[in-house]
Amino acid sequence: MKNLSISPASASGAQLIDRFGRQLTYLRVSVTDKCDLRCSYCMPKGFNGFEEPENWLTFAEIERVVAAFGRLGVARVRLTGGEPLLRRNLPQLVERLASHEEIRDISLSTNATQLHKHAQALYQAGVSRINVSLDSLDKACMENITGRDSFASIMAGLQAGKQAGFKPIKLNMVVMGGVNEHEIPRMAEFCFNEGFILRLIEAMPMGSTGQNSQYRDIGPIRDQLVRQFDLIPAAEELGGGPARYWTRRDGQGTIGFISPISQHFCASCNRVRLAVDGTLYMCLGQDEQFALRPLLRAGISDTELEQAIREAIELKPERHEFTTQRHKIIRFMSQTGG
Ligand SMILES: C[S@@+](CC[C@H](N)C(=O)[O-])C[C@H]1O[C@@H](n2cnc3c(N)ncnc32)[C@H](O)[C@@H]1O
Ligand code: SF4
Repeated sequence: MKNLSISPASASGAQLIDRFGRQLTYLRVSVTDKCDLRCSYCMPKGFNGFEEPENWLTFAEIERVVAAFGRLGVARVRLTGGEPLLRRNLPQLVERLASHEEIRDISLSTNATQLHKHAQALYQAGVSRINVSLDSLDKACMENITGRDSFASIMAGLQAGKQAGFKPIKLNMVVMGGVNEHEIPRMAEFCFNEGFILRLIEAMPMGSTGQNSQYRDIGPIRDQLVRQFDLIPAAEELGGGPARYWTRRDGQGTIGFISPISQHFCASCNRVRLAVDGTLYMCLGQDEQFALRPLLRAGISDTELEQAIREAIELKPERHEFTTQRHKIIRFMSQTGG
C-alpha cells in the first residue's frame, strides 16, 4: 500500500490553485450517472434521462484526466456516481489509476447493493476505503427512501466490505426530518458496534428531488449526540473532506458532521468533480463547468490537457448559493457525481 500522507504538491512541484487561493488536491470521478436506487433526495422515481454510452469517458480517457490532475498536485481520487459499481470492470479502472505514483489514495462511494460481488477485487485493485450510503436501519424506511427493497443487499455489502479489509468504512446518512431523524442514536450505536464511522449529512437542494428533502440543521443534532455519547472533537483529520469529526471520550467510536447548508465549508474547498461525460464541475451548487471530452477526443496533448484543467480551475466560484438561491441547481447529485 502507498504512503497515505498527502503531500501538498506533485513530484514536479506543480499545484492547482484557484482564484481564491484554495489548492485543489482532490478529484471526484463519476464513472456512471446510472443507479439501481432512487433515493428521494437524489433522483426522482422512474427517472431515466441518463447519458448515452458513447458519451461516457472510457477508462483510458478517465486515466488520462486523473493522471493529468496527479501531475498538477491532486493526490486523492474518489470514484462515485450514480452507482459506481454499475460500471462494468471497475477494478480494472482502479488498477490503472493506482499505477500512477502521484495518486496516493483511491476511495469509493457506493450504495453497497452490489458490493458483496466486488469488494475483494476492488480492495486488491487499490481502493483503500469506502463510503456507503445508509439512511436507515429499518427495512421499510429504506424501501421508502430508496424506492427499492435494498436493505438486505446493503447489509451483505457492508459485511463483504469489512471482510475485504476497507478501512475506514464510513456510513453516509442524509438526515431528513420526519423520515429518519429519530433513528440517529440507533444508527450511531450500530456504527460503534460494527466499527463504522457514521457521517450525518445535511440535504442539499439539488434538482427537483433535493428541494423536498425535509432539510434539518445538524447543529442541534450534534449537540444532542455530544451529550448522549460523551463526544469530544477528534484529534486527527479523517479523510480529505469537509466533515467535522467527533469521537467518544473512551475512543470507541467516531461521528462526522457534514453541514453544507448551516455551516458551509467553501473557504476550504479542495475539490472538483469529473462527470461521466467528461464535464468538470467546479462546485456542487453552481453551474460553472468545463467540457473535457471534446478536447480529449480531438487528440490534445498532455500539456494541453494540463493547461485546459488550469483554465477550468480559474472558473471555480467562491462558494455555493444553496441558502440564497435554493432553486438554482437543476442537476441531480447523481449527474454531477456526489
Ligand atoms: C450521489 S451518491 C453517489 C454514490 C453512491 N451511489 C452512494 O449513494 O453512495 C453520493 C452521496 O451523495 C449523497 N447525496 C445525494 N443527493 C444528496 C442531496 N440532495 N443532499 C445531500 N447529499 C446527497 C448521498 O447520500 C451519497 O452519500
Ligand atoms: S444517493 Fe447514490 S444510491 Fe441513492 S439514488 Fe443517488 S446515486 Fe443512487
